[in-house]
Amino acid sequence: MDKLRITGGRTLKGEIDISGAKNAALPILCAGLLTADTVTLTNVPKLNDIATTLKLLGQLGVRTDRASDDTVSITADQLTALEAPYELVKTMRASILVLGPLLSRFGEARVSLPGGCAIGQRPVDQHIQGLAALGADIKIEHGFVVARAKKLKGAVVRTDMVTVTGTENLMMAAVLADGQTILENAAREPEVVDLAELLIKMGARIKGHGTDRIVIEGVASLHGATHDVIPDRIEAGSFLCAVGVAGGDIMLRRAAPATMGATISKLQEAGLTIQTGDDWIQASMHKRPKAVDFRTHEYPGFATDMQAQLMALNTIADGTSVIAETIFENRFMHVQELLRLGANIDIDGHTAVVRGVDRLSGATVMATDLRASASLVIAGLAAEGETLVERIYHLDRGYERMEHKLRALGAQIERISS
Ligand code: EPZ
Repeated sequence: MDKLRITGGRTLKGEIDISGAKNAALPILCAGLLTADTVTLTNVPKLNDIATTLKLLGQLGVRTDRASDDTVSITADQLTALEAPYELVKTMRASILVLGPLLSRFGEARVSLPGGCAIGQRPVDQHIQGLAALGADIKIEHGFVVARAKKLKGAVVRTDMVTVTGTENLMMAAVLADGQTILENAAREPEVVDLAELLIKMGARIKGHGTDRIVIEGVASLHGATHDVIPDRIEAGSFLCAVGVAGGDIMLRRAAPATMGATISKLQEAGLTIQTGDDWIQASMHKRPKAVDFRTHEYPGFATDMQAQLMALNTIADGTSVIAETIFENRFMHVQELLRLGANIDIDGHTAVVRGVDRLSGATVMATDLRASASLVIAGLAAEGETLVERIYHLDRGYERMEHKLRALGAQIERISS
């Protein structure tokens, strides 16, 4: 398994491009199942999760082609299967996103239950209840979600909690249903909006995306489209935390600061100087960060996917901070590893109290999940001496060539391939 070796103490300087958003590209690739025409996507990041999704679509009989580094086209005109197998789904929960489109266009789908993951149990009951409300005959058999529907029927669907992929699955099911569907308590994330924008380009009739009430008028069929995936706000936020910890001046290009309000204001509160344009973010930090309290919340609140990274900044900040993780029940796996680097953190249920220390000291640490691995890399930039981050296959799921981008900014970091 690959590792990353980081020698702390370097400030960051220079500019990098932000990649396309993983959490927009994943549902958007699955939306290609909704038409026999070709859907061409640009700004698709080169990530393991994208490769897994293309493999899953390929197993269904979809023709996929990565024409260039960031362009992918998919054509679902000769499907040979309507089943997402456990072997693939267990490695990537987002595979559940084929359920809605397969059911909507083909009237049946068999998708393995994803099972839990490091950050929580992560059930899909809201996906199932929502599809049943749209008229699907849906049950769990031998670890699979088995769904059938001659024709889905529009309905009002209110999920018990805000669910990002739940909203996306239900939206993709509703676009070909008979009549009107209203999704109440819908997720407002920019990635949900980007999916809706692609579906509209494909001929879907959707209003209210980006609010908690999305109205969808079903249509008979959808056609092909081309779409540029939005920039990854979590990757960009992670690099802002990196310069907050290491110090320096960086420019992030091909970014979308308009989707990063909560992150940018929190980092300004911590002492970063941040200027933004339509598609760029300039950040500098030349002092010790100030400790910042925060609680994670659905968009437009502070993203749970940024919690581990901002905690890394708080470990060396001036003062004590209180962090509340309100979305997932077990998203503090990075704490044990940050403690190995000399951080001072106490956990009490869903709350972590972080007392800033003057210096972290390098050590060997283990990545446990995607954002935890980013947190450990960020902490390693400031730790004295050498930090070895193990199991960085977690990192490769959601960050495109992170060590190359950090090296381009002057960090001393290298990948050790086993
Ligand atoms: C999406 O996961 C993201 N993944 C996650 O990013 C992100 O952390 C999460 O949204 C929250 O923003 C993708 O978009 C591919 P949820 P998702 O359904 O949709 C509970 C990353 O690091 N829930 O919004 O699976 C659930 O357990 C990943 O890029 C149910 O109980 O998250 C959680 O507590 C990690 N039943 C809460 O709702 C359901 O049917 C929010 O989950 C669905 C969700």
